[in-house]
Amino acid sequence: MNEKKVILGIETSCDETAVSIIEEDKNGKIKILSNMVSSQFDIHKEFSGIVPELAARSHVEKIDLIAKKAINESGVNLSDVSAIASTSGPGLIVCLTVGLNFGKALSAGLNVPFIGVNHLEGHALSPKLSTSLDFPYLLLLISGGHTQYLSVNGLGKYKRLGTTIDDALGEAFDKTAKLLGIEFPGGPKLEGFAKQGDANKFKLPKPIINKGGCNLSFAGLKTAILKISSNIKTKQEKYDLAASFQKTIEEILEVKTQIAFHEFNKISKMKNKIFVIAGGVAANKGIRNKLLKVCKRNDFRPVFPEPKLCGDNAAMIALVGLEKYKIKKFDNLDLPASPRLPLDERAKFLKGAGVRL
Ligand code: KG4
Ligand code: ZN
Repeated sequence: MNEKKVILGIETSCDETAVSIIEEDKNGKIKILSNMVSSQFDIHKEFSGIVPELAARSHVEKIDLIAKKAINESGVNLSDVSAIASTSGPGLIVCLTVGLNFGKALSAGLNVPFIGVNHLEGHALSPKLSTSLDFPYLLLLISGGHTQYLSVNGLGKYKRLGTTIDDALGEAFDKTAKLLGIEFPGGPKLEGFAKQGDANKFKLPKPIINKGGCNLSFAGLKTAILKISSNIKTKQEKYDLAASFQKTIEEILEVKTQIAFHEFNKISKMKNKIFVIAGGVAANKGIRNKLLKVCKRNDFRPVFPEPKLCGDNAAMIALVGLEKYKIKKFDNLDLPASPRLPLDERAKFLKGAGVRL
């Protein structure tokens, strides 16, 4: 299979309708030919959270158009497409079903293989879209639904080292933002608030910081924010609380990442250690800077996806599709949607474990 490969990826697991076409040339170089993402912020903001039925309806309405746009922009002929890859989980079942069915129909119509992709594996491999990356590496996956440290040992081969035992980090950002009166999803905007505040103004708890290995917890932090926010009145106090929250998160990740490095060093004897930080929250500049420093001190090479590829997109789904296509790991057209689809199936169930759904 040394010829050019063209993969069409589809992502509809939550509130983004996304279609992307990527190409790998004969020399193994990957290029994103198109990457269309249509967000549903306007639909869900009045509910301060995602309403599954509305999300699914919007996917149904938009998937056709987004796919057409992605195909036009890529300049490829449908007859050049090697395979179709759709997210099969985890996510909202009514949303996953839209992208899965669309992908299956395309694959049947074009008579090319169909590949189901784990959304989390998309995030895990996403830096490969812009840089070369060899297994194994340590991954911190921080998104709206998941927060985990994993050893990534190969395609489909994950060992979980730590996980949140309650809220996911993106969820903690969004909930804190909501308490500060920032519109949903507030995570990205909270950083802007934090820049204008005094990070030492409020002392916030760091749950399980001295126990539980590299497992994490954010629920106690959220409760503390709730109490403080009900007593603050001025805009400046809001900025101060945002800054204090941002600083506390950076400090928690600093401690827990050092523990994760230690755990990873015990299982990986590789000389050049790599630390990948992926998922929506990996776009946070303060977290990026803090983790860069932690990497420098501990001799790990930090790797981030490009900021625009941190959040949900279909290029990362096409990328996993490409890797599976190369080893002929195809799926049948009866592949079901899987609302729960952990990367490490053997990891023991921890209460909450960052599962939002
Ligand atoms: O990976 P993602 O796009 O979707 C999921 O798979 O969940 O992550 C979305 C999450 C949201 O909670 C959003 O608020 C958060 O990532 N997020 C951020 C930033 N950008 C996105 N959180 C903090 N700082 C940011 N700059
Ligand atoms: Zn995601």
